[in-house]
Amino acid sequence: MRDDIILETRDLRKNFGGLTAVNDVSLQVRANSFHSIIGPNGAGKTTLFNLVSGTLAPTSGRIFYKGRDITRLPVYRTAHLGMGRSFQITNIFPNLTVLENIRLAAQALGKDNFRFTRSVDSFDNYIERAWTVAERVGLLSRALSPARELAHGDQRKLELGMLLAPDPDVLLLDEPTAGMATEQVPDLIALIEEIRAEGGKTVMMVEHNMNVVMSVSDTVTVMHYGSVLAEGSPAAIAANETVQQAYLGSLYGEKMGTGA
Ligand SMILES: Nc1ncnc2c1ncn2[C@@H]1O[C@H](COP(=O)(O)OP(=O)(O)OP(=O)(O)O)[C@@H](O)[C@H]1O
Ligand SMILES: [Mg+2]
Repeated sequence: MRDDIILETRDLRKNFGGLTAVNDVSLQVRANSFHSIIGPNGAGKTTLFNLVSGTLAPTSGRIFYKGRDITRLPVYRTAHLGMGRSFQITNIFPNLTVLENIRLAAQALGKDNFRFTRSVDSFDNYIERAWTVAERVGLLSRALSPARELAHGDQRKLELGMLLAPDPDVLLLDEPTAGMATEQVPDLIALIEEIRAEGGKTVMMVEHNMNVVMSVSDTVTVMHYGSVLAEGSPAAIAANETVQQAYLGSLYGEKMGTGA
């Protein structure tokens, strides 16, 4: 495994009965890169994230993270190793404040998690961490509001904050802009890009919004029927004939991107 590869799958497969949702996928994700996974509905993108994060066990194949075989590790172990996985439905506690939600997320994965006694000091550390993260995701002015009072766009920011709270090295984001109003999307994406740039974080993202994918990604992997159809830079993917036919063409109804 090359030094700059933080995450790798080798011939990763997941069968659900007779259906092969992920079909021998071999993928390398460079450290500190922004790597997007695109593909039609049902292509296996979420299943791939479930395998990588340990939410699901693969049928066959291997997964390596920072050079270590994590193939059979459950999600709480991969989380402790620095992998942050977003879910379509996040565990926001609606009656707790923004700050408390972030603090709990930090504490659940914090270093003190394994201790039997918790000092007041460490509790204060988590509060401090929560304030820092609340500011980072642009929710400082809402920090003391109950989460249920947040507008939808701010809830997505809170989800991001809860993901960031334990300071993961890799962020697995499954459709972070889903359900957001169009005008809120650039804001969230700018935030994700800033976070990656600052913290030397690696971002893997499943996203259907092609404008977003093409503008932020270093690498784009296209999945189709569980397999990798193509991989490359956004420009190469936009110009790829096979991808056009299988996916992008059907999205746009015509050629996109390169002016060809
Ligand atoms: N737990 C499961 N049991 C059975 N089949 C499943 C399960 N999870 C996913 N599938 C099937 O596996 C295939 C891939 O699903 P997956 O959710 O990974 O696709 P996706 O690329 O994330 O799609 P979308 O863009 O709609 O989110 C689909 O045919 C889906 O119905
Ligand atoms: Mg999905």
